[in-house]
Amino acid sequence: MELLSLTPGTICVLVGPPGCGKSTFAARYPASWRVCLDLYRLAATDDEADQTATPVAAEIQNLLLDARLARGRTTLVDSCNVHAHVREGLLARARYWQRPIVAVLFDVPLAIAEAQNSNRDRVVPSSVVRDLHEMLPTADQLRREGFHQVHQISRAQPADPGPLQTEREHLAEQARELAAQTTAFAAGLIRSQPVTDHAQRIAALARDLARTAARVEAVRA
Ligand SMILES: Nc1ncnc2c1ncn2[C@@H]1O[C@H](COP(=O)(O)OP(=O)(O)O)[C@@H](O)[C@H]1O
Ligand SMILES: [Mg+2]
Repeated sequence: MELLSLTPGTICVLVGPPGCGKSTFAARYPASWRVCLDLYRLAATDDEADQTATPVAAEIQNLLLDARLARGRTTLVDSCNVHAHVREGLLARARYWQRPIVAVLFDVPLAIAEAQNSNRDRVVPSSVVRDLHEMLPTADQLRREGFHQVHQISRAQPADPGPLQTEREHLAEQARELAAQTTAFAAGLIRSQPVTDHAQRIAALARDLARTAARVEAVRA
């Protein structure tokens, strides 16, 4: 993924549904440049998905935006920003502080956003990914709204299946390990008298797990 060169003092608004790669993009820049609603929801509630904390998270984000824009510090807004009224607030701040404002539009196909969303730690419900993906603006729309530049990150297919493949292999390894442990445990139980239905069920489960591990391993992106 390309690294954009941003004029110092720019507010750079990432626009895209969950799973499209915004935080991955932001991670290529200094950490202090990033403001992120997820982080502030987490700080307020221990749960980054707790939408009841969105108002307080937005207040924190606005405080940080004003602090940074006042000082001309380049700032990345790492949240979905697919709602026009949210972008309007960011455009108003840029106007107030007279800073350049650019958008990075992640127009990745829904299937990719969904696949990437389901392959990470915090999985957003797929209906939410779908709804937010549908609201994605076009580059022209963003320019009309007042963004000075729009950089488009378009992907027809996963550019780098590496992390997904690694995830799959890791899962397969875990399943194999679990299967081996369960087999050993069940064998021990069966040897010790009396043989219980329970032990036989565990042995069956271990065989299922081993089969699952083989299937998971066979799947290729
Ligand atoms: N270009 C890419 N190719 C393959 N996987 C990616 C790419 N960008 C992001 N991912 C993966 O997709 C998942 C979601 O990315 P993330 O940056 O957290 O999305 P967002 O912040 O938009 O919700 C992560 O597991 C990340 O590693
Ligand atoms: Mg993110």
